[in-house]
Amino acid sequence: MPRIALIPGDGVGPEIMDAVIPVLEALADKHGITLQMEVYEAGDETKKRRGVALPEDTFEGVRKADATLMVAVGETAKEVILPIRQELDLYVNLRPAKSYPVPNAVQGFDVTIVRENTEGLYVRAGWTNGDTAIDLRVATRRGSERICRYGYRYAKEEGKERVYVVHKANVLLGCKLFREVCSSIAEEEGFEYREMYVDAAAMRLAMDRPFDVIITTNMFGDILADLAAAYIGGLGMYPSGNIGDDKAVFEPVHGTAPDIAGKGIANPMATLLSAAMMFKWLGYREAGEDLERAVWRACELGYTTPDVGGKMRTWEVCASVRDLILAR
Ligand code: NAI
Repeated sequence: MPRIALIPGDGVGPEIMDAVIPVLEALADKHGITLQMEVYEAGDETKKRRGVALPEDTFEGVRKADATLMVAVGETAKEVILPIRQELDLYVNLRPAKSYPVPNAVQGFDVTIVRENTEGLYVRAGWTNGDTAIDLRVATRRGSERICRYGYRYAKEEGKERVYVVHKANVLLGCKLFREVCSSIAEEEGFEYREMYVDAAAMRLAMDRPFDVIITTNMFGDILADLAAAYIGGLGMYPSGNIGDDKAVFEPVHGTAPDIAGKGIANPMATLLSAAMMFKWLGYREAGEDLERAVWRACELGYTTPDVGGKMRTWEVCASVRDLILAR
């Protein structure tokens, strides 16, 4: 029985999570999956009340769970997400940017960013000396190898052929190592090695997209992913997973959307699609695909929130997705 930790978080988090839970229950029920879901608190509001953004009972719940689904936490995001990523060693940040039939998306856009999640410029090591600030950028053979293998294996599993390793090896030492490791792994994993400099990749992402999957380092992945978000209708449509060898935390790419919090119009699709990724990761591929199909159909029918051209409220979108799941 899979154990799922749910973290609604702050801002639009609770309203999205409340609407999403009945969809997950209906999906699990339809596919004969017994889910043990437990809700935990974390974030700004939690810090105000309890003095810490990630209380020990929440951390323990995440540790014990097979997978976690989180919506978003506010200003304390780093105090919540970073310790979880570090302790559970969630070295993959998987961001599939696929357009669904909403009017503000470029149809046919389908590029998955496989971003290294623990190294690079985000190790938060460095120092300041007077007017000079220095950040350390870390790349290890082990870190490069595991993200690269994950990327190729993911591509194989998903039937995606055009896999590019994206780096800046002409300038950066860490990228030289990354390139060396990835180029030796490609063939072992059954792929032709293809690569591109990150600046060129940004242009090609906007232009003709010769890739299905991009395997890249931490900061490059972060930036390319947000560029990709612009082509799929924005952050309300963009799911992600932080994945390790035996644990994973799935969350929409967006934050707490304070400008629309409490209005009931937050787009729940990114969270639903993150949940679909979670079902697949847990081994329930059919259930994950069923949820993706229901989201697709809801978008086709215009059962969407205002950010993607619709008129529905968060709970109405989720109720429609639930009905679509149960109707088939
Ligand atoms: P944001 O993603 O919350 O909002 C950016 C824009 O996108 C806003 O106009 C917002 O209304 C819109 N938006 C986001 N999600 C939406 C949804 N589901 N439906 C419709 N529209 C949506 O980013 P922002 O404003 O930079 O950050 C707000 C807070 O969220 C900050 O405190 C930040 O630290 C936190 N944050 C947390 C993240 C996490 O928990 N993983 C990730 C990014 C930001």
